[in-house]
Amino acid sequence: MTSPCRAAYDGAVPSPTSGGSRTAAPTAAGSSARSIGAPVSIRGVSKWFPTGRDFLHALDEVDIEIEPGEFVSLIGPSGCGKSTLLRVVGGLLPYELGTVTVDGNSPAQARDTKQIGFAPQTPSLLGWRTVRRNVTLLAEVNRRGAIHPPLGEREILELLESVGLGDFLDRLPKELSGGMQQRVSLVRCFALGAPVLLMDEPFSALDEITRNEMRYLLLDLWERTGHTVVFVTHSIPEAVILSDRVLVMATKPGRVVHAETITLPRPRSAQMEDDERYLAHMRNVRRSLGEVSAR
Ligand SMILES: Nc1ncnc2c1ncn2[C@@H]1O[C@H](COP(=O)(O)OP(=O)(O)OP(=O)(O)O)[C@@H](O)[C@H]1O
Ligand SMILES: [Mg+2]
Repeated sequence: MTSPCRAAYDGAVPSPTSGGSRTAAPTAAGSSARSIGAPVSIRGVSKWFPTGRDFLHALDEVDIEIEPGEFVSLIGPSGCGKSTLLRVVGGLLPYELGTVTVDGNSPAQARDTKQIGFAPQTPSLLGWRTVRRNVTLLAEVNRRGAIHPPLGEREILELLESVGLGDFLDRLPKELSGGMQQRVSLVRCFALGAPVLLMDEPFSALDEITRNEMRYLLLDLWERTGHTVVFVTHSIPEAVILSDRVLVMATKPGRVVHAETITLPRPRSAQMEDDERYLAHMRNVRRSLGEVSAR
């Protein structure tokens, strides 16, 4: 097994191509109220985990350039490094080789200046706060060092209403279904004002019908705000309908083996699931995943 030839914590340097934030999202719908996405640059990133006397080669020379406001999905077999890559970009894990920048900053700087938002697998709402307070409170507190302002209360209430929670603003999380809780969690993620959102299988705990609804709610939120989103999923239909680009990863070591640029127009709709282009993208991603699994 390969061992790391150099170990550095968060040794990122500013990318020459990275620009300012609040650049208009090239791919989000033109109706965006705010377009705040920032570029993410991942160049030659390799990562190893120490495993006793050996090392596990988790990521191998991963190169991904993400445009401001782009929606990119990562898909691949279990253990191929999807969560590891998100955590590296989010400044939560060190990496040994390569560079990562978020709007020209190292992941640690981006994390400290609240440029990155995480949407977790489970909603993790505060049980004693109402829906409204769960979203607004976190937007108000813990913003020290933040370089982007959170959404105002009126904008937050509009988002909550747009995802069908207008009648539940003063309810507690325990009074909501799992899908409703996940909607609160998503709005909270968007409301923080971070230009880059990292989402690690946020819908995996939901039933198929709710999950399908959540895809379009997420698209609606994203199309209004123009955040840069890196989205991890195991679902090919989910990846294709949501994304501008679907990156297929292989395992041992974790790496990107195929990039599928999704040519469906924006805004996306459920009708597009019958579109020949959608079906062709599904076939391409499925074939690529099949090749990965067969290796
Ligand atoms: N903290 C850690 N220490 C040691 N090994 C780790 C650690 N975190 C992850 N790994 C290993 O790194 C590899 C990639 O893990 P990762 O969680 O990124 O995979 P994944 O693609 O997100 O998988 P899944 O689809 O199951 O969530 C796996 O082999 C995993 O066992
Ligand atoms: Mg994972």
